[in-house]
Amino acid sequence: MCRLGNQKDMYVSLNRIRVAGAKIFGCRKGEIGFGFNTTFGINLAAFGLPLNAGDEVLLPDVEFPANVYPWLELRNRGITISFVNNDRGRFSVDLFRNALSKKTRAVAVSAVQFFNGFKNDLAELGDLCKERGLFFVVDSMQAAGCEPLAMKRWKVDIASAGGQKWLLSPQGTGIFYISDEMKENLRPPWRSWLGVDWGADWTDLINYGRPFEQSAQQYELGTYPVGHLHAFAWSLGFITNLGLKNVQQHNHALLDTLAAYLNDEPAYEITSDLCKRHRSSILTFTTTKADVRNLHRRLVKQGIITALREGSIRVSVHLYNNTSDIEALIGALRTAAKGN
Ligand SMILES: Cc1ncc(COP(=O)(O)O)c(C=O)c1O
Repeated sequence: MCRLGNQKDMYVSLNRIRVAGAKIFGCRKGEIGFGFNTTFGINLAAFGLPLNAGDEVLLPDVEFPANVYPWLELRNRGITISFVNNDRGRFSVDLFRNALSKKTRAVAVSAVQFFNGFKNDLAELGDLCKERGLFFVVDSMQAAGCEPLAMKRWKVDIASAGGQKWLLSPQGTGIFYISDEMKENLRPPWRSWLGVDWGADWTDLINYGRPFEQSAQQYELGTYPVGHLHAFAWSLGFITNLGLKNVQQHNHALLDTLAAYLNDEPAYEITSDLCKRHRSSILTFTTTKADVRNLHRRLVKQGIITALREGSIRVSVHLYNNTSDIEALIGALRTAAKGN
């Protein structure tokens, strides 16, 4: 019997997603909703926050475009979008503080920058935002599933992550976090019939006086991709059962081995910040001798999957990698460095 369409199973999976999502984001279960990708939650923020003409939103100048285009659209509403300049791919809290103006109303930043793995100071940024009465939005795509997160403690208002990367889930899945406190301020940019509290009774559909769900579920959109939900629930359960700290430890240990090799080899230069507070499960490096594009092509040909991002080779290691993968990468780099 195919149970994929079973309504009860669907709600079981949704509940699992919310329970695991709360562990991943470090918040309450009722603050987690199912989105379809990172963009979903960023749009909820951009078009749901009470921003008005004359206000300003501040973004780092090297954000992944998912956390840029929804904000840029606000220019049509008279809202200014300003960028904080990076310092060699890094950001200090002072860079943000100095970029704030009297008009700034929101700061939207990635937990981990996509191109070099720089982990931002979310705790300190959260303090800064609350001190100044600013909304704080976090694109968590490159952190959710591999770095422990504490959105509630860090005073984040809205966060969002697609499932298709570190959460090991199908494309078309994602979670968003919206703090209980934030709900009071939000002007939802959309409404959905499944965001209403039906009390599991669908026999009175044309009674339009139903209240919205109190939880983040009220911002979810219509009928769910049920097959995806089951896969998503399973993956999130798998990751949270392992424990985010253990996942992080596994990934960082593999990158330590790679970093030790790269630091010793003059042909390469690490471009990530590997200090404890700013490192992540992403390490990037470039070549001092050869062309970085050729090196990347060479690795791909050998079946070593890395990404070329903004002039560096990006190595993203996760649960499916082990020391033999890192040894294979080091072996290939060693050969390339010798010019063979
Ligand atoms: C920081 C960051 N945000 C968002 C995304 C993707 O956004 P979405 O899940 O909406 O496709 C990526 C990369 O795929 C990313 O690196």
